[in-house]
Amino acid sequence: KEVVSCSGRQTYHDDMAKILYTEAVISQRVAELGRQIAQDYQGKAPLVLGVLKGSFMFFSDLVRAIEPCPRGLTLDFIRASSYGSGTESTGEVKLKADLKLEKVEGRHVLLVEDIVDTALTITTVSRYLLEECGAASVATATLLDKHERRKLVYRPEYVGFLCPNEFVVGYGLDFNEEYRTIPYIGVLKPECYSHLGIEAPEPDGSGESSD
Ligand code: XMP
Ligand code: MG
Repeated sequence: KEVVSCSGRQTYHDDMAKILYTEAVISQRVAELGRQIAQDYQGKAPLVLGVLKGSFMFFSDLVRAIEPCPRGLTLDFIRASSYGSGTESTGEVKLKADLKLEKVEGRHVLLVEDIVDTALTITTVSRYLLEECGAASVATATLLDKHERRKLVYRPEYVGFLCPNEFVVGYGLDFNEEYRTIPYIGVLKPECYSHLGIEAPEPDGSGESSD
């Protein structure tokens, strides 16, 4: 992979136009969500299902914040890929999971997402779990809700923050697979993508993206 040198910008932090959610703000909100989820799922032995890759950091913080942890809580992951051409997603979402149907059947599933945008991904995953796998219920915990960009009506049950309509990176979220490890969430400076000939990054732009 070609590493693009950004003149004058030494670190990823220098690529941020602004920080939307600091580490401290995220951590406090995740703790609140965790407590709420712990209350709602007592006695339900939930299956907490992370949607890869973007949710990995939120997932690991959130599951530790589900306190007191409901007995029977188990974890798994599912991978969702959108296919698109040009700058618009086709709306086709492909799922990859090593979930066995019998593992999901009758379970109360809590999906964990980094961001719900058009809601195509989360709608596809929810339908699959309910209709093909026989989940007893499906709810969604998303750190960010970019509600202005919905193509399908979808209301996640647990939302960290209502997110402005901007392309965000950090805390698991990427641009071209980079920036995922930054502990806060921010918006990139335009010069970080203008060399690619684009005005603004589009989630799930061209080709296959799996995050
Ligand atoms: P949909 O449109 O299916 O989107 O709700 C879900 C996936 O799109 C990605 N996405 C983003 N990724 N910054 C990112 O790094 C963003 O601002 C952004 N908006 C959407 C994300 O992978 C999400 O799961
Ligand atoms: Mg994602």
